[in-house]
Amino acid sequence: MKNILITGGAGFIGSHVIRTFVNKYPDYNIYNLDKLTYAGNLGNLKDIEGSSNYTFLHGDITDETYIKNIFSEYQFNNVIHLAAESHVDRSIKDPLAFAKTNILGTMILLNEFKNLWEKNWENKRFYHVSTDEVYGALGETGLFTEETSYDPNSPYSASKASSDHFVRAYGETYNMPYVISNCSNNYGPNHFPEKLIPLFINNVIEEKPLPVYGDGKYTRDWLYVIDHANAIDTVFHKGINRETYNIGGFNEWKNIDLVLLLCKLMDTKLNRAQGTSEKLITYVKDRPGHDLRYAIDATKINKELGWAPSLVFEEGLSKTIDWFLNNREWLENVTSGEYKNYYKKQYS
Ligand code: NAD
Ligand code: TYD
Repeated sequence: MKNILITGGAGFIGSHVIRTFVNKYPDYNIYNLDKLTYAGNLGNLKDIEGSSNYTFLHGDITDETYIKNIFSEYQFNNVIHLAAESHVDRSIKDPLAFAKTNILGTMILLNEFKNLWEKNWENKRFYHVSTDEVYGALGETGLFTEETSYDPNSPYSASKASSDHFVRAYGETYNMPYVISNCSNNYGPNHFPEKLIPLFINNVIEEKPLPVYGDGKYTRDWLYVIDHANAIDTVFHKGINRETYNIGGFNEWKNIDLVLLLCKLMDTKLNRAQGTSEKLITYVKDRPGHDLRYAIDATKINKELGWAPSLVFEEGLSKTIDWFLNNREWLENVTSGEYKNYYKKQYS
């Protein structure tokens, strides 16, 4: 029987990973450990919260005593680690919070996992879910491969790079079985509206300005979140220990082109005249240290593990907009309270 600890399972990607594992693997015991920060929301998991193979644990990965206790009580033989501070703009304002959760929190998990299984690593695995941002910025051409050197630029990506290094260090030093995946930008249902796509969907609904940083020519590589959850399932079950897998959909968009497509789709869905949402686009001061371009070469996971994305972007974006339009209550809940202060500080 697998006792799997999934951290950050109340967040955007984590909730889709939890749902995938709880529904697909009734024989596993799935434990979701989450602090429920501003980004964590148990409302993301209503459909599976009563499942007999699912347990929620409310706690903080930086609380060493708490982590010790739950490892001792539940004997997790596998960890899928997603809990993190995840937003680049917040990391610019409060880098220490990112070091604490993303570096120290990861180390505390690694340490307890090692203390529990060091004498018997058989059928154990620590899976670190990471980002392509650890590789830094690309110019106009080229792709990140698994061999690209780490060169992070933001406090967020530096903290994720550091945690990747610690996972590999535990593998080398203590022989701990691990896998790491580095994924491109995700989008989809339950995405917290601080990131580009859900923020702009929410602002179009509310007819608020769409704040495009700099000249809007920055490029990101977008993947539908459920495709990422399926990739995590694939890497967890088929990935080779000590390997890294890049995850992405070969789907690059300049921010401004993506925003124009989003505006067009939303005008149609909201029965507004074409061109209405586009008028909300406002160019604002650039993000400091803004990485020009991310683009993933996902050949390895495709060839070696047989994973491929299921949706093309236009379809995924349309489904995502529909989800937000049909879940206004979710959106209203997460944009009340702390969000209002964040929004004011970031955009006024
Ligand atoms: P998110 O911010 O939506 O969710 C993070 C979750 O972690 C929240 O539920 C939060 O409550 C929880 N958490 C934060 N600090 C915690 C702590 N100290 N203890 C316990 N729980 C804590 O993030 P996301 O976008 O779902 O990203 C999940 C993971 O995937 C992160 O590790 C991120 O670096 C990685 N990732 C994200 C993307 C992306 O596009 N969002 C892409 C690649 C990789
Ligand atoms: P974001 O969703 O924050 O993801 P990341 O920084 O991790 O790639 O940003 C995606 C792109 O959109 C990035 O180039 C920054 C840009 N952006 C804006 O232009 N305006 C915004 O308000 C936000 C949040 C992002």
